[in-house]
Amino acid sequence: MSQFIINGPAKLSGEIPVNGAKNLALKIIPASIILADEITITNLPDIEDIDRALSLLEILGGKTEKRGSRVKIDTRNLNKNELPKDIANKFRASIMFVGPLLARFGEVKFPHPGGCVIGAGGRPIDIFVEGFKKLGAELKIQNDHYILKAKKLRGNTYFFPNVSVTATESLMMTATLASGTTTLKNCAMEPEITELAQYLNENGADIQGAGTPTMTIKGVDNVSGGKFHIIPDRIETGSFAIMAAATGSELTITDCRPDHIQILLTIFEKIGIKYQRGRDWLKIKRSPKIQPYSIKTHEYPGFPTDLQPPYTVLMTQAQGTSIIHETIYDRRLFYVDMLSQMGADTIMCDPHRVVVNGPTKLYNKKLTSPDLRAGIALIIASLVAEGETQIGNIYQIDRGYEKIDKRLRKIGVNINRSK
Ligand code: EPU
Repeated sequence: MSQFIINGPAKLSGEIPVNGAKNLALKIIPASIILADEITITNLPDIEDIDRALSLLEILGGKTEKRGSRVKIDTRNLNKNELPKDIANKFRASIMFVGPLLARFGEVKFPHPGGCVIGAGGRPIDIFVEGFKKLGAELKIQNDHYILKAKKLRGNTYFFPNVSVTATESLMMTATLASGTTTLKNCAMEPEITELAQYLNENGADIQGAGTPTMTIKGVDNVSGGKFHIIPDRIETGSFAIMAAATGSELTITDCRPDHIQILLTIFEKIGIKYQRGRDWLKIKRSPKIQPYSIKTHEYPGFPTDLQPPYTVLMTQAQGTSIIHETIYDRRLFYVDMLSQMGADTIMCDPHRVVVNGPTKLYNKKLTSPDLRAGIALIIASLVAEGETQIGNIYQIDRGYEKIDKRLRKIGVNINRSK
């Protein structure tokens, strides 16, 4: 199995550009199912989940033509409405195909989606199913597969019992082709949702309120294709910013949207990390002393759960005690054990909270990446640590951060990939 071998401590310098947002790319690809003609997507990140999403579309009968970070998609001849288990089991975002297929064919068959093992009970899909039922779909479970059927989807009101990013996006896309008006309440408000809604609106949809807790969607007969440019990945931006802060480096992050990580920048001001920002760049300054600051993860615009593991590493270098409270996922603090093995002074209070006493020196270790965001956190810890750290299961890191080794080498990191 491939590994990263990292020699620390590292001082980063220069510039690092941010790629297109994974969690938007993974939605615009299935959104193409509800379009009446071709779509060209640009700034697509080159990561495995994207290739999977494109393969899935091809299996369903779609045509995809990918050149570098641009892909042309044509779903006019789509002729299947069943998600094969072997591919759907490999990534959580396969669930994003369900609503558009239901809206287009009136029926969809799919297995339980796979992905990072960070949520309770294999990451439930009850909210999706409940929402589709509200729009008039009937559910059957047969041979480990869900089957949803609806002669005609009809607008309705649905209140999300939990704020869910993908469920909000799914119902928004599905309701776009339903008859009548759908009102969604307690919606997620992530910038990726606003981008998706704006694109659909520019091409014929009628979605009001994206980016607020209440959305109103008036069903339309069709939505045309066109061009879609993926916004910069805010989690990548935040990960690089924390990487610079934790290693006491000066680093310029380009091609990014600092306004999408406002909460992190606000905390940086509180903990003494200096920065400068423009509309699409962020420069982290060398900040020798970091103050501790406790966080609680929250839906956007609160502190993102996806930046919680990198931030915990940062707090191991702070002058005092902080509490990290993970509120979104049940299994997103497993990596803390590895930080402790590296020398971090941490106390697990319960599965959701960890106390971090800083500052501590970190030491090299042999580590395994449990999931994507924990993986980047372990890379950051290795950059702080003395000596050679090995990180295994890096497939989990490659899933979300395109060619991370190559890109980090350009800013001065001694990182190599071994087979
Ligand atoms: N939930 C349910 N039932 C559902 C759906 C969700 O109980 O039917 C629960 C989840 O178990 C979790 C909470 O609701 O406790 C919120 O999960 P959400 O549905 O918002 O997460 P998601 O939509 O599956 C997206 C991102 C995640 C990111 C979260 C939170 C995609 C493909 N994934 O997941 O990204 O952590 O929102 O911001 O957009 C990542 O990139 O590493 C990643 C995991």
